Amino acid sequence: MTASPLPVEPFDLVIFGGTGDLAVRKLLPALYHRYVDGQIPETSRVIGIAREGLDDEGYRAHARKALQENGGDKSKVDDFLKLVHYRSLDARKDEGWDDFAALIGGQPDHVRVFYLSTSPDLFVDICNRLGAYELNKGKARVVLEKPIGRDLKSANQINDAVGRVFDESQTFRIDHYLGKETVQNLLALRFGNILFEPLWNAEHIDHVQITVAETLGVGQRAGYYDHAGALRDMVQNHILQLLCMVAMEPPSSLSPDAVRDEKLKVLRSLKPIDESNSAQLTVRGQYRAGAAEGQSVPGYLDELKDHKSHTETFVAVKAEIANWRWAGVPFYLRTGKRLPERVSEIVVVFKPVPHSIFDPSAGVLAQNRLVLRLQPDENIKLWVTIKHPGPGGLRLRHVSLDMSFAEAFGVQQPDAYERLILDVVRGNPTLFMRRDEVEAAWHWADPILGAWADSGEAPRPYTSGTWGPSAAVALIERDGRTWNEDSE
Ligand code: BG6
Repeated sequence: MTASPLPVEPFDLVIFGGTGDLAVRKLLPALYHRYVDGQIPETSRVIGIAREGLDDEGYRAHARKALQENGGDKSKVDDFLKLVHYRSLDARKDEGWDDFAALIGGQPDHVRVFYLSTSPDLFVDICNRLGAYELNKGKARVVLEKPIGRDLKSANQINDAVGRVFDESQTFRIDHYLGKETVQNLLALRFGNILFEPLWNAEHIDHVQITVAETLGVGQRAGYYDHAGALRDMVQNHILQLLCMVAMEPPSSLSPDAVRDEKLKVLRSLKPIDESNSAQLTVRGQYRAGAAEGQSVPGYLDELKDHKSHTETFVAVKAEIANWRWAGVPFYLRTGKRLPERVSEIVVVFKPVPHSIFDPSAGVLAQNRLVLRLQPDENIKLWVTIKHPGPGGLRLRHVSLDMSFAEAFGVQQPDAYERLILDVVRGNPTLFMRRDEVEAAWHWADPILGAWADSGEAPRPYTSGTWGPSAAVALIERDGRTWNEDSE
């Protein structure tokens, strides 16, 4: 039987960008689910902020629609919406801020969470106003959605400006991939078992693959996306964070800084990729018209209505970590929009056995693989070689020891935001990025972006519904390896 989760302290959660895609599709549903589970005290408030001239009822109608489309139960949605309010504010104008400050000031003992789910251009203005209206009081925290800037310089400007109002201990830089169940399971698997650690190094691991594939195109987000691209949108943050979880040394505890110190060392050990080697180690792609989930879909440039954009919607990178544990072990990273299936996984491929005692007629001795599937159908599989059952001689088979979370625990896993928002309320930053981690990640990504820009080359086209440009296949096949294809 699963124990009921414990309620958190009463809080006021203010969502800047309250009418935006993330707020409506992810944050409000996450809060609703935690409410239904009894974790959110009834005196808590969720306050959406945007420029649109809505009132509480208008915003609730907007939220109701999204929650019901998401499967929310009508009467529970209505109860939850009593907690939801709205204020129309412009981060760049004072109008309305006095009233907002009075609203927040009305519950001084509540934890205050200012969730900045807007374009990063507005982070500085919002924080300045939160400071000027003296809203950083009591148990206040600020949440910064990624991307934090678009390069190291702009990330520093944002972090400096936020830091003038909020301490680092109050600043929660969210990377929702760290809230995914399988990612936390990676911690449990690596550090809760003795089995893996002795093998978790260059002596026994051949290479690691991290794939985050999406079938969706950029759709309504083309405006944002065209200024970002796949490296900034997915690799600099989500994928590097996954890489850190795989590659970090065992932290001495799960305390926030113990974990983040170890991740930082990994980021700082990434081998530089710049104009001298980016052509060998990276592949950029951009989708063209094709098919997605059985429907024909337009290409990126048509969606954007700009036929000159060089923004990449696909990227593959061969990364390496320069330290004793990982010397010579490639980490192949890839992500893209409009790929054939939605799948995110980490594949750890072990080295072949040093010598085969089997007759070639027994079949191929495949390498052991540990596959951590983040989505869909979160599961962990360990591929091992066994004997095919029955008579007929010794024939080898590769089978997976399988742990599917839905089957084993009979529950659908909570969305990453459910866990992370409540961690902010609890004041636990373990699964959030510290400023130095963001800087180290940009320090690695900036020269790649620079090399691409200097080359003047367009990304390679790929047809929607395929696994990206053929150069991405060549990137790994040049090393005598292939992308993991088991989609069972
Ligand atoms: C976001 C990116 O951070 O993550 C999106 O900005 C991407 O472009 C999304 O689609 C993927 O998240 P998930 O949880 O659906 O894999």
